[in-house]
Amino acid sequence: MSLPPHFLEELKQRVSVSDIVQRRVKLIKRGREFVGLSPFNAEKSPSFTVNDEKGFYHCFSSGEHGDILSFLMNVEGMAFMEAVETCAGLAGMDVPQETPEEHARAEQAKGMREANTAAAHFFEQQLRMPHGAEALTYLQRRGLAEPTMRRFQLGYAPADRMAVIAYLRREGYEDEVLVEAGLARKSDDGRVYGYFKDRVIFPIMDARGRCIAFGARALGDAQPKYLNSPDSPLFQKGDTLYGLDLAREPGHKAGEIVVVEGYMDVIALSEAGIPNAVAPLGTAITENQIKRLWKIAARPTLCMDGDAAGRRAAGRAALRCLPILVPGRSLKFTLLTGGQDPDEMVRENGAEALNEAFANAESLADIIWTDALSEIDAAQPEQRAAFDKRLHELARGIQDETVRRYFTDEVRNRLRQAFGQEQPQQRSYDRYNGRGDSWKKRDQGPPARRLPRPAAGARVAARSIGEGRLVFVLLQRPDLAEPLAERLALIRFADPALDSLRAALVQNIVHVPGIDAGALRNHLMNAGLTRTLSLLDADIKRRRPPGVLQENEADMAIWLDQAISAMERDEVNQEIQRRARSLNMQDDRALQALDSEMQAVFRER
Ligand code: UTP
Ligand code: MN
Repeated sequence: MSLPPHFLEELKQRVSVSDIVQRRVKLIKRGREFVGLSPFNAEKSPSFTVNDEKGFYHCFSSGEHGDILSFLMNVEGMAFMEAVETCAGLAGMDVPQETPEEHARAEQAKGMREANTAAAHFFEQQLRMPHGAEALTYLQRRGLAEPTMRRFQLGYAPADRMAVIAYLRREGYEDEVLVEAGLARKSDDGRVYGYFKDRVIFPIMDARGRCIAFGARALGDAQPKYLNSPDSPLFQKGDTLYGLDLAREPGHKAGEIVVVEGYMDVIALSEAGIPNAVAPLGTAITENQIKRLWKIAARPTLCMDGDAAGRRAAGRAALRCLPILVPGRSLKFTLLTGGQDPDEMVRENGAEALNEAFANAESLADIIWTDALSEIDAAQPEQRAAFDKRLHELARGIQDETVRRYFTDEVRNRLRQAFGQEQPQQRSYDRYNGRGDSWKKRDQGPPARRLPRPAAGARVAARSIGEGRLVFVLLQRPDLAEPLAERLALIRFADPALDSLRAALVQNIVHVPGIDAGALRNHLMNAGLTRTLSLLDADIKRRRPPGVLQENEADMAIWLDQAISAMERDEVNQEIQRRARSLNMQDDRALQALDSEMQAVFRER
């Protein structure tokens, strides 16, 4: 429903941001503003500010910014109209019903909700009646405790289809409304009878806990196993999530929400102390449902069966989600093994087992990758090409430009790592490693490594050369190496053989202060590094000695400092790349955090 702009203006005039924020965040007055701990990030010092005059809040740690309505939506997880109504309630204003049609629709919905609520009450009572005993026993046999049944308002629809009709008529509901609400059906001869018969009733609530429909399970083998209320103006399956009303708050607090497959899964998890679970209503998850979940948690976890069908379902859900990704939002996937659903798993193995499975969820990118990969025979080059094309198509389908860019990068990197183009032959001192016939292998180069870029082979070779030169110079001038010992101890050479030389060199200059070049060489040879040393000498000779050896003292010190600095920087860069690869690529905040952390490392150095 669209609201007249002046109404929203007035609402914002009347309700101060600090009033709304204080429902969740303790605020301290500072000048014209309030400050508090960010509700978006865990933090120790307050970076969250509220300005009542300007009517907005701003969070410096997360960049979140908004007004009373966006706070209620983003922090409390409300839908837009719900936020408007909450504010209107605080301001003592009525939310205008814009058009007569809308008004009529709202009235109709209200009537249907009330009828459903009354019916839910009736069904709940029936469960405790003598003719409900079998249903009650059924639920008890499935391990449900009384408080759980109450929390989910479980009930029983008796075998007599007219019982609920009679009750609701007595309560003053018109047959018309009962039919609209899906509680009753009308036969061809105009008789009205109840929709559910002899089934356990699971009331389905909207996000605010108002009953909008029912799921109903057969006690025995009657088909269908579950019967759901038909879609109505009040209830659209694809927009609804079972258990959302109860899961919203704990989900918000935990920053995590789990989507399981069935009603019983939601209920069993809740009983086992995992209250932040919801379920779609027997259909695959929809865009609207994903968007709802994103209001509660940045990366909801979809929990599915780990069999082939479950994997395919996960793949489809991932594909559905991909185009609508926005920065910072995604999905995670937990594929349960062992053929149990979460209800069975939690009963047999406890909540810990499930929590662990959730903690090890796979990323959206991983699921998309494996799903697409499962469709090809990667041994065939033309199929790899098709796979490549497919992934790029998927990336292009992402509507958000930033996510599209990151995703495309990710696809490129993964493709390169998985079936990278031929690596240029590497020159590596690795061949000096005493692995048997290293001389013979010399011209074949080392086995191809998995490297992030095609150029990386060349880069590693260049790095090996740089590393060789550095060690060579240090060997000639241990006096210059001494003040650099600490830094030399911290860096790691890419080339393992040269790295052992580096480590031994550091050992020696630290333990024997003032050691001269000859003694150093002897020590290293005694330490079993003779072969590495002579190969290094030969290589340096072939490449001509680094000019630096002919230069003066000061220039040499500078050269050494620069060479080490370059390696340190390289290490930071690699760390950034490594960490960035392990990050969820849509997680802006994590990327920002990584960025500032790495900048701090740079500054330190
Ligand atoms: P499942 O068949 O996995 O059932 O359906 P379940 O949830 O484990 O139920 P129990 O443990 O046998 O009682 C998962 C969900 O699919 C929908 C329901 O929403 C159910 O919770 N469903 C299933 C239907 O709508 N109709 C059906 O006939 C079956
Ligand atoms: Mn089950």
